[in-house]
Amino acid sequence: MGHDEHDHAILFTPEFWDERYGSADRVWSGNPNPQLVSVVSPLTAGDALDVGAGEGADAIWLASRGWTVTAVDISRVALERAAALAGDLPISWQLTDVLSWEPGVDRYDLVSAQFMHLPSDELRDLHRRLAAAVRPGGMLLVVGHHPSDHEVPHLQRPDRADLLFTAEDVGVTLDPALWDVTASSPSRTILDDEGQTVEIRDAVLVAVRRAQ
Ligand SMILES: C[S@@+](CC[C@H](N)C(=O)[O-])C[C@H]1O[C@@H](n2cnc3c(N)ncnc32)[C@H](O)[C@@H]1O
Repeated sequence: MGHDEHDHAILFTPEFWDERYGSADRVWSGNPNPQLVSVVSPLTAGDALDVGAGEGADAIWLASRGWTVTAVDISRVALERAAALAGDLPISWQLTDVLSWEPGVDRYDLVSAQFMHLPSDELRDLHRRLAAAVRPGGMLLVVGHHPSDHEVPHLQRPDRADLLFTAEDVGVTLDPALWDVTASSPSRTILDDEGQTVEIRDAVLVAVRRAQ
């Protein structure tokens, strides 16, 4: 890869992500994220926003279950790949830099951000805007790599420790008068790049905005 991955700023540019997605026919598994499936399966479909949608597996899963989906990402390469996979499903793919973007207010029944890691100030600001975009009665679902994964040798992410967050970190930014918050850190097993089984931990924030 042409960039120094220790330079954090590069991780949030379209050039970095277009190069990453352009380096392989497929970067992610193609399966929807497990926390999305388990949390959202019981919900009634409505309008959903997928933030940092990547190759679109989550957006496609949501749309195939009846959700009308807006999917945003900074990588044109990823979005073109995702759109080709999605075919006629009702998904609006939007090339967007979420660092400078207003998703709107009271617009979505579900806002999902899966593994969208940014420096803490930018992330807090993004989560504030995502929370505002949730309708009364809707859900904000934020999933990330838990800080304890910093200790997992096979993941090789020592340079990114400051980008990791707990669900509690996110939850405290939400007004408890307006939100019912569940923060958890479930573990799951994945295969690393060498095919070895590794236990990792997700940070999972499920926040339901109280109906008014
Ligand atoms: C770790 S990937 C996660 C992709 C997808 N959510 C998933 O779980 O498979 C992070 C995604 O965030 C996107 N991204 C990074 N910085 C961004 C930014 N500033 N604005 C919008 N998307 C961004 C990347 O292009 C990438 O697709």
